[in-house]
Amino acid sequence: MKTFFVWVTFFVLYIHYSEQLQNLLNTDLHTCIKCLCHARTGCYRRTNCADYSINETYWRRAGYPTLPGDNPNSGQSYRNCMRDENCIVNTIVGYTNNFNNLDCNCDGVYDCRDMLKLHLYGEQCGDKVDDDRVRRFNNCASQNRLASMSSNELCRVAAQ
Ligand SMILES: *[C@@H]1O[C@H](CO)[C@@H](O)[C@H](O)[C@H]1NC(C)=O
Repeated sequence: MKTFFVWVTFFVLYIHYSEQLQNLLNTDLHTCIKCLCHARTGCYRRTNCADYSINETYWRRAGYPTLPGDNPNSGQSYRNCMRDENCIVNTIVGYTNNFNNLDCNCDGVYDCRDMLKLHLYGEQCGDKVDDDRVRRFNNCASQNRLASMSSNELCRVAAQ
């Protein structure tokens, strides 16, 4: 009986962990993250983007998206996630979702441009995005039917 409960507990936890990861591959969010990452690193590889811009704190704030079978409490799960395309996309989407669809540029919509600023600067949305990043974002955006941005899409900072 005891073994049975241990097994059930393990199974429930396993299902719970597995469900954390949504399949975002080939969705609009995936496209957005490709452009966001390209803007951030100038590189089209998400693993590179993760190396440069996602630390373990960021990953935890994203809700520690975890590959099936991995334990979210272990640092190894963070490293495993950072080698997986879908897990990286889940991490960036999860992190930027922390800010309640904050409309960083006050244009009335929450979209990829807001997510880029949240990824780079967190809830303060940052000041200007530097020109190289804007240029790279727009190159990618124009190839992927995303709205382009300007470097000074300012509006406000989040309530402090
Ligand atoms: C980790 O990422 C968070 C969120 O982007 C950032 O606030 C923090 O400064 C970073 N920590 C280190 C040690 O780089």
